[in-house]
Amino acid sequence: MAYIINDEVIERIHDEANIVDIVSEYLNLKRSGANFVGLCPFHNEKTPSFTVSETKQFFHCFGCGEGGDVISFVMKMENMSFLEASEYLANKLGIPLTEKSEKEKKLELEKEKIYEINREAVRFYYSNLIKNQEALKYIKNRKIKRKTINQFGLGFAEDNWDGVYKYLLGKGYNEKDLEKAGLIGMRRDKTGYYDKFRNRIIFPIIDTKNRVIGFGGRVIDETMPKYLNSRDTLVFTKGNNLYGLNLVRKHSNRERIILVEGYMDVIALFNNGINYAVASLGTAFTSNQAKLLKRYGKEVLICYDSDNAGINATTKAINILRKEGVEAKVILLPLNQDPDDFIKENGIREFEKLIKNPLNYIDYYIFVYKEKYNLSNPDGKIKFTQEIAKILSRIKSPIEKDVYISKISKETGISKEAIEKEVLGRNYNSNTRISKDKYINRGFRHNKDKIEPVNLVLESGHLKAEKLLIKLMIENKSYFDIINRYLAMEDFFNYECSFLAEIIFREYNSNPLLNNIDHQFILNNIKDKEKLDLNTVNEILNQNIHFLSNDMEKTIEDLINTINFSKLKMELDSVTKKIQEIGNNLNGENMEEFKELSLRQLELKNELESYI
Ligand code: UTP
Ligand code: MN
Repeated sequence: MAYIINDEVIERIHDEANIVDIVSEYLNLKRSGANFVGLCPFHNEKTPSFTVSETKQFFHCFGCGEGGDVISFVMKMENMSFLEASEYLANKLGIPLTEKSEKEKKLELEKEKIYEINREAVRFYYSNLIKNQEALKYIKNRKIKRKTINQFGLGFAEDNWDGVYKYLLGKGYNEKDLEKAGLIGMRRDKTGYYDKFRNRIIFPIIDTKNRVIGFGGRVIDETMPKYLNSRDTLVFTKGNNLYGLNLVRKHSNRERIILVEGYMDVIALFNNGINYAVASLGTAFTSNQAKLLKRYGKEVLICYDSDNAGINATTKAINILRKEGVEAKVILLPLNQDPDDFIKENGIREFEKLIKNPLNYIDYYIFVYKEKYNLSNPDGKIKFTQEIAKILSRIKSPIEKDVYISKISKETGISKEAIEKEVLGRNYNSNTRISKDKYINRGFRHNKDKIEPVNLVLESGHLKAEKLLIKLMIENKSYFDIINRYLAMEDFFNYECSFLAEIIFREYNSNPLLNNIDHQFILNNIKDKEKLDLNTVNEILNQNIHFLSNDMEKTIEDLINTINFSKLKMELDSVTKKIQEIGNNLNGENMEEFKELSLRQLELKNELESYI
């Protein structure tokens, strides 16, 4: 790709592409009222629930929830990035593109070369493996089938310092390029280079576009470190990739995806016919990886090693996935086992049974805290119940909540009423409304018909989120409807935003047929408001929203979370400050207030924690 895709191009694509034509190239659409319908290409279905709106230029599937504009349709259909899909459409529509700068082109060529080098290296390591008896013996001991070796492109780096180095130089690549690919390193005395991977089984790491982006290597003896991974390079960022995802994309029906810790766990599962497992590549699990999991499996199952490190990593992954809107479930293995061990010991049928009955995250936490606290003594019981109450307060369904409260009551002998109070008292609702009055003196802001500017300094993320939400509400009533579920007019803290929010809420509420709000209308309404900063207003109106994710509901949720998180932090700061003030001067009169503030401080801390 050597072209620049800018706002102008995107706008022209939106103007000139007809989503109905583009979608029709992939599936049969039939007119149904104002829309078109067809069989969804993103999930299996027999009756059509995939809808395309010609007027809105949007698609949406009521079956699987996929949806978006013409660019996101092509992205999903062709597995392209945003830029690739835009270039593809621009070419199709005859929209002229400007060439990329020399610098950008050079970078792309550099990346291409690394992919090429890596692919050559895979060939080299593979040919080593199939002729090395020791390596083959190791593979055989680990019960890896021939087919699995080929599927994963496994290889072997022999026990010398210049195997891959010489081979690739022979293929015409130079040292600098090999170093950029991460395959060789400069010797400490700077007299030359050495192979990074030696005497190791090689696991090529391949992305969903089938490019070899990096390598993992495992020793075949007891040498340390057991595993070595490519360093991050121009084409490889560990936290952005998952081992095995290329095969999941190719083979799995995407009903579910299993997250495991190690290369060998993924391989053991595929080796036994389970084609929907990935590993997180020897780094802590990241939100980018969570996004990938979400895309490649309806249900996400975590099956980390059953040791302390694995348990900690599981709870972290659960939280990261929750932030991406995924409620992961957990497959629990016997103590100190990983999936590979378990399958070796008990067979794949037993593992399949575990897959069918995963723990939901609440049951998982109950398990974890039961391990942590001793339920046979009162102190343990109390701590256990408090921890669980924290989790239960996040559940929205009252029925589900009740079921768990009963369960915990049976488990601990603590009355249901007491647990209920504990759960309610925590009130972990991310939608807790926090008003500006908490930070500023009452009466200052609203003075009936006169609004005074409030000089609240907002964190940059918070401010950005408010501005974007305002822009989204202005542009599209359906975005307003979503936002309005979570935020009221008063929830906008920035002065300009709060002013615009008033106009927006008033307009949409008094005019149900409105699809969007005219910029001119807004500008007319603020003309004589002298305290309003027009630059800020213009900046809000002219924000570019094309580059937001296609999943608008999710984007909005993220923005709202950002705001809620920041509000909690602001309140925590202000409460903490007050506690310090009163604390310096504690007496009979302010004791109650002090206690109340301390309680609130604890609550806020807990609530903030539930975001992380
Ligand atoms: P484990 O040590 O649990 O690996 O590390 P494993 O899969 O059970 O290994 P086997 O069964 O002994 O072969 C899990 C993952 O952590 C990373 C690797 O990605 C590994 O797959 N790791 C582990 C490292 O990066 N370096 C190490 O030294 C060890
Ligand atoms: Mn293992």
